[in-house]
Amino acid sequence: MARIPMMAGNWKMNNTIAEAVVLAQEISNHYEKEWRECVEIVLCPPAIGLKPVLTVLEFDRVRIKVAAQNVHWEEKGAFTGEISVPMIEEIGCSYSIVGHSERRGLFNETDEMVNKKVRSLVKGGLGAIVCVGESLAVRDEGRALEFVCAQVRAAFAGLEPTEAHSLLVAYEPVWAIGTGRTATPEQAEEVCAAIRATVADLFGAPVAAAMRILYGGSMNPGNAAALLAMEDIDGGLVGGASLDAKSFVQLVEACL
Ligand code: 13P
Repeated sequence: MARIPMMAGNWKMNNTIAEAVVLAQEISNHYEKEWRECVEIVLCPPAIGLKPVLTVLEFDRVRIKVAAQNVHWEEKGAFTGEISVPMIEEIGCSYSIVGHSERRGLFNETDEMVNKKVRSLVKGGLGAIVCVGESLAVRDEGRALEFVCAQVRAAFAGLEPTEAHSLLVAYEPVWAIGTGRTATPEQAEEVCAAIRATVADLFGAPVAAAMRILYGGSMNPGNAAALLAMEDIDGGLVGGASLDAKSFVQLVEACL
């Protein structure tokens, strides 16, 4: 079965509620019925913007989903500042991003924490967009494939093949994020193919063939088509270029 591409906009810590609603409305205004079956569209506003953005999308009856950028693994408790899977589920989120390199790098998230978050999302019936990616130093040492595949194994540890249908991987080389320096399609494909082989090893070939693997890192309307043409790249997780409705719509169209 062909994999339906996903185009996800990770807004990071951008957009107040007022700005988030305007951007969601602009994207919704461009919505085309033909997108329905061809591409899965996901907006990832800051937590505070999830509900307002979803309200816009539901009112317009467009098939655009929302995802949290992060979530805690416990359901509730004394974890000041955190939000849980049942909370984002109640809002109407379909997914959460997990293990973004900014969370790993700036907030000391470990592979073990990423694994707990993925398992909590699976338990709660939500999807996980699991980010992996190597630094420039690791790439220059020639260890990119080994490093990224180890991150995938750690993120998915303890999960059964039957639990894998709601999982996605986003390959985001750290050196390409927000730098304007995109991985070449061949570089990205090499890693995404290795990720798929790792998933096959963990969960079996049918699960690997069905799992979507996204690319992220300075993706924009100018370079998206070449990346998306690669065999093992099934969409994008886009930062900067997702903050402008016109360019995000162009990215969605690049998936068709
Ligand atoms: P940019 O598209 O701004 O490089 O960000 C990529 C990213 O980190 C998406 O999660």
